[in-house]
Amino acid sequence: MKHSFCLASGVGLFIGASFVLSAAAFAGSGDPSAVDWSKVPTKEIKLFWPGQATYQWLRSPEHKRADLQTKEGQACVACHKGEEEEIGNKLVVEHDLEPMPVDGKNGVINLKFQVAYDKDDAYFRFQWKTLNNYPGWAHPYYRYDGKKWKAYGFPKLDAVVQDGKQPGIYEDRMSMMIDDGKVENYAKQGCWITCHNGERDSPDRPTADEVKANALFKALKKKDVRKYLPSTRTDEEASWDKGKTPEEIAKIKAAGGFLDLMQWRGHRSNPVGMSDDFYVLEYRNSDAGKNPFGSNKDKKTKLPKYMYDEKVFGSKSVREEDIRKMETALIREKNAVPFDPNADWKEGDMIPKYVVSREDSKGSAADNNRSKGVWKDGMWTVVWARKLGLTNPDDKALKEGGVYTFSFATHDDNITTRGHHVSFPMSIGFGVKADIEATKLN
Ligand code: HEC
Repeated sequence: MKHSFCLASGVGLFIGASFVLSAAAFAGSGDPSAVDWSKVPTKEIKLFWPGQATYQWLRSPEHKRADLQTKEGQACVACHKGEEEEIGNKLVVEHDLEPMPVDGKNGVINLKFQVAYDKDDAYFRFQWKTLNNYPGWAHPYYRYDGKKWKAYGFPKLDAVVQDGKQPGIYEDRMSMMIDDGKVENYAKQGCWITCHNGERDSPDRPTADEVKANALFKALKKKDVRKYLPSTRTDEEASWDKGKTPEEIAKIKAAGGFLDLMQWRGHRSNPVGMSDDFYVLEYRNSDAGKNPFGSNKDKKTKLPKYMYDEKVFGSKSVREEDIRKMETALIREKNAVPFDPNADWKEGDMIPKYVVSREDSKGSAADNNRSKGVWKDGMWTVVWARKLGLTNPDDKALKEGGVYTFSFATHDDNITTRGHHVSFPMSIGFGVKADIEATKLN
């Protein structure tokens, strides 16, 4: 398994610039694209549109004849087994649980999933059809309007897109959320324990000022609410604003009471052969270190930090008509140079809002450094390796002999936050009986 991990294909305008990571970068570690996937069984998983079915809604009388059972910890599939299509198609159009339906959205996505492992790594392969006849590798940009560089392109649940003031532009993603049995109810109720009123694009959303005034969010230095676990709140409703103290939360983390959450990203990680690495506890936190992407805004000048290196990329910026035809990621170590405010900018020139870097990623946040997706004939195929036996305090260590609860989600067609298609939770065993058993490779 000591093949080099090659990123040469499909890189649009990187003409002449060879974009191949050296074999040495992966010395001693497995290449997920070298696995013989034809020998690994494929599981079909239905991902469905969840609307605004939050933790609080599921425990309210509106979840008819099911609120008490859900509170008691009954599994969703105890009542909803095989109903993914029915629920997804019901919630994707106008519904009490969907106040912002997205035009033309599909209720269900069929995911083909494979999992294998050897003595060093777990290997995952995902395949799904995109709604659009292009891959979601574009992401919001700064666009020059003749005078200023302004944010351009937003996710499709945003009012500016639904009102036609901005185009829907957002990367595709594939996410995995994992527990090793330490988070109460996750095995039975999956990602719905992380999804709460008050979060972005959810009901009862507080203002940024309200969030900043809250003790927990002040300590976190955050101004919005994202996924969290009920164990980090003090009330039975698990309200966003009833956070435990940082000391109590640190104890839960030390005892392993968090979920691993990692995302392969079509714009912000795939171009450098990576996925990100986060965990869910009192917030959706990044693992320690640095993820493969960061803001491309200079805090002082409010202008972009980097533009494309014309010698490598072919131009200093892109135009809207190009972004569906080629990868436009701004890669710090490959195709980026410091932004020049005095270059001959024309109205409509665009530069990515994020800068991506494999070299700058580090620590536990950079663990997923072998993932690669290729889009062909309307379908993404993503392969992904993850080390077994990680010892970071913000990771769930996958091991032979272990069984884990996994949930999957994909963001498709220019969308973020809850605008994903999700799975019910399932168990995956590495050499152990489970809903899905990972294939052992020799
Ligand atoms: C005790 C059985 C039971 C459990 C457990 C349960 N549900 Fe339900 N759920 C129902 C019933 C009954 C309805 C109402 C269906 C209807 O009105 O047609 C419903 C409705 C829903 C709806 C609204 C869409 C629809 O079909 O009306 C969603 C979404 C939903 N449930 C998600 C979940 C999730 C997620 C879980 C796990 C956290 C869960 N349910 C657990 C029985 C259950």
